Amino acid sequence: MNPAITPFNSHPMATDSVICTADLEVTYKNNLKALKSTSIDITQGSFVVLLGTSGAGKSTLLRALNGLVQPTAGSVTAAGLGDLADPSTLQRHRRQTGMIFQQHHLIGRLSVLNNVLLGRMGHHSGWRMFCPWTRSEKEQALAVIDRVGLLERALARADQLSGGQQQRVGMARALIQEPRLLLADEPIASLDPNTSLRLLQLLHDICKSDGLTAVISLHQVDFARQFADRIIGLKQGAVVFDGPPQALSERHVKELYQHHTSAEASAASTEQHPAYLQQLSPIEV
Ligand SMILES: Nc1ncnc2c1ncn2[C@@H]1O[C@H](COP(=O)(O)OP(=O)(O)OP(=O)(O)O)[C@@H](O)[C@H]1O
Ligand SMILES: [Mg+2]
Repeated sequence: MNPAITPFNSHPMATDSVICTADLEVTYKNNLKALKSTSIDITQGSFVVLLGTSGAGKSTLLRALNGLVQPTAGSVTAAGLGDLADPSTLQRHRRQTGMIFQQHHLIGRLSVLNNVLLGRMGHHSGWRMFCPWTRSEKEQALAVIDRVGLLERALARADQLSGGQQQRVGMARALIQEPRLLLADEPIASLDPNTSLRLLQLLHDICKSDGLTAVISLHQVDFARQFADRIIGLKQGAVVFDGPPQALSERHVKELYQHHTSAEASAASTEQHPAYLQQLSPIEV
């Protein structure tokens, strides 16, 4: 067996782990087993990309890492906190976990600034939630908005921004949480390739400069190869590849996407569009 294709058994949490799953399974109410026994350790500071065809279980795994779906077997453990099955552990874990969604989930009529400030909600409790934002929170929000390159649009309504800009707001809203773990489910799915590249580059740079751990699902193999420290390939709910991008061979890609038509498989390959990858400069989306 290729060493990069690893059969997983339950194992103790690694010392540099941020979150791990042990024999995690998710079966939905319709009896569909979306995730078969999965044991993975996500290590501190790693930029992990989940690959796999539609329905492979990427979103299910990501959602399990934030307690949005419950394990039907096995467990998810956050380092220093414990098993997410415990409600107070889950609450603390969520406070430290930023989530970026494909559809942004912004409130269109609110400004960029106010959307970003909503990311601080998890840090407020009880009556404090009804108080106006503090000056320091507003300054912090402006600082993250600046980081994602949108400072001059801070007071614009979110629904007046392009898709790429809206996703930058989604990133800023996750970053203001000061998370230790960032989860992103197809953050570039609705964006054009150039915008996608810039956004992923920005996300990657921020994660690396802040030592943030990230788990991101993508459909683009070339982007996974470019940015990931580690690629986890899922197929029909099982991990069939786990290793560094250099270990992901064309054979692995074919195996991961073998249900796709040959046109789709080749569109996912790096060789198809290397030109735009080189042309881009890191400018605002
Ligand atoms: N809430 C749900 N109830 C029942 N089945 C579900 C639910 N969510 C997902 N599934 C099923 O579980 C399987 C895995 O879905 P999941 O959304 O995790 O896949 P995915 O890899 O994220 O796919 P995509 O690339 O299309 O987003 C699919 O067969 C899907 O239909
Ligand atoms: Mg999905």
